[in-house]
Amino acid sequence: MNILAIETSCDETAASVVEISPRSGGGDAIRVRSNAISSQVALHEQYGGVVPALAAREHAANVGPVVEQALRDANQTAPVDLIAVTRGPGLAPALLVGLTFARTLAWKWSVPLVGVDHMDGHIHSNWLPPSEGDAQLPDFPLLNLVVSGGHTDLVLMRDHGTYEIIGETKDDAVGEAFDKVARLLGLSYPGGPKVSTLARAGDPARYTLPRPMLKADTFDFSYSGLKTAVLYLIRDITGSTRELTEQEKADIAASFQEAAVDVLVQKAIRAATQHQVRAILLSGGVSANTLLRQRLDVACRENNLQCVLPELRYTTDNAAMIAVAGYFAYAASGATPWEHLAMDANLRLGQNTTT
Ligand code: KG4
Ligand code: ZN
Repeated sequence: MNILAIETSCDETAASVVEISPRSGGGDAIRVRSNAISSQVALHEQYGGVVPALAAREHAANVGPVVEQALRDANQTAPVDLIAVTRGPGLAPALLVGLTFARTLAWKWSVPLVGVDHMDGHIHSNWLPPSEGDAQLPDFPLLNLVVSGGHTDLVLMRDHGTYEIIGETKDDAVGEAFDKVARLLGLSYPGGPKVSTLARAGDPARYTLPRPMLKADTFDFSYSGLKTAVLYLIRDITGSTRELTEQEKADIAASFQEAAVDVLVQKAIRAATQHQVRAILLSGGVSANTLLRQRLDVACRENNLQCVLPELRYTTDNAAMIAVAGYFAYAASGATPWEHLAMDANLRLGQNTTT
């Protein structure tokens, strides 16, 4: 079947056509026929973060053209078989734009509609095929390490859509910590990728930073203390009387990244071992981080675990991942009557029950 997916939860307006069909020998053949994205980064950069009302205005202006582009790129002239749309979590005014557009299209074309959890989408970015061949996914159960601007979750996945959150952040998400440390270092939004680039020129052993909750007897995380430790470190170095040198900035970025990644990897490995899971899947915007990808891969090998990493182009917000999550949600529970499809800005993984 051909699925049109629409994603407007934050600062990317995205639409994608994905073709998915069950294979006779089991599994599903997944082909991304188009993946259109209009980014608002340049707009929000001047405000130092995403402004929800501005995001909604941009989504409203862009969602029509982006959907048209996705259909054109895919040469999709007939109505699709299913429309999948992100219903949460995210920014309420932004989510409403995509949801309203999708509902209207489903009504106009008389095609089934399914509401998708954005984080379920990120998890399913791992099912999107690489340039050559298919994604190689092990059997369930799987452990997901979901790391984004709003989430730092360890999630046991027993099947598509069947989730148990076994660990989550008690305060800031890891992506949020990257963004806040970026601001402390004078880097503009979105800071995560910039901290990671800066860290390449730095010495990760120069400054010792805390590994919050590493030894705690839970799989929960905490990143606000690490960010505060960076703030105090900067004050200690400069005495609030001078600017940081470029080398100091790079060393702070590297030391912070080292601490942030260390906790994620060690906790994920411990959770996989304790829950007797054989593979760890990484997802969410922070899954673009090179050090995290390398460290998780090495740690998995050392512990006889399989490590699954999403293709880099699918790590940030996109609609192809929403199409895949929508396909499995539809296969499990059917369509959502369009008049029942409601936005939920605080939707929690495993609670997407609108059908
Ligand atoms: O999934 P995403 O695009 O949006 C949310 O759903 O939150 O994630 C965005 C987050 C931001 O905090 C951004 O700074 C972070 O992912 N991020 C990174 C990298 N690329 C994006 N953090 C660290 N290293 C990166 N390379
Ligand atoms: Zn996201």
